[in-house]
Amino acid sequence: MKLLQIDSSILGDNSVSRAVTAAAVDQLKKTHPGIEVTYRDLAASPLPHMTLADLADPTYVDEFLASDIVVIGAPMYNFTLSTQLKSWLDRILIAGKTFAYTAEGPKGLAGGRRVIIAIARGGFYGMESPAAQAEHLETYLRTAFGFIGLSPEFIVAEGIAIGPEQRHKALTTALEHAGALVSA
Ligand SMILES: Cc1cc2nc3c(=O)[nH]c(=O)nc-3n(C[C@H](O)[C@H](O)[C@H](O)COP(=O)(O)O)c2cc1C
Repeated sequence: MKLLQIDSSILGDNSVSRAVTAAAVDQLKKTHPGIEVTYRDLAASPLPHMTLADLADPTYVDEFLASDIVVIGAPMYNFTLSTQLKSWLDRILIAGKTFAYTAEGPKGLAGGRRVIIAIARGGFYGMESPAAQAEHLETYLRTAFGFIGLSPEFIVAEGIAIGPEQRHKALTTALEHAGALVSA
């Protein structure tokens, strides 16, 4: 069994999403003894902006498709995903590999794996909050993974920039959620 862990925060040891992906992977190692983990740090080793040549390079999409579980750290920067994570996703949403255009419309081809996404946001973006319409991270990732046939599980830590108390509360809750993951 294979697990792919992706981090994309630029905040290093101060990153909330990195702490949550680490806790999730620790927990999944316990629930799936012997699981093989591949780690990509997209901040330490960024992928360049996509080019036409990248669309023909299967390195990243094949690594993704070889994984049974994918754990992704997704910080909110400027209302959406980090450019580091976008560059990786640009190499995952590949026609003929993870989706196909059919007579009935687009069809996802990547189903059958588990995707867990740790989201960290500075503010609050819940349905009732005034900023709800500015949320383009979770909504984007749900759409992008849905397009290729996947329904991610989200672990959300928000209000991180409001103050130390809220940061502690949100991080603690997200770490508990990560630590309580069970095999699907
Ligand atoms: C460059 C930058 C842009 C940010 N933009 C937003 C934003 O648009 N909305 C928001 O709620 N928080 C924003 N934040 C706060 C982050 O979402 C918050 O610090 C979160 O913890 C980031 O995840 P990380 O700790 O894993 O990096 C931003 C932070 C940085 C560094």
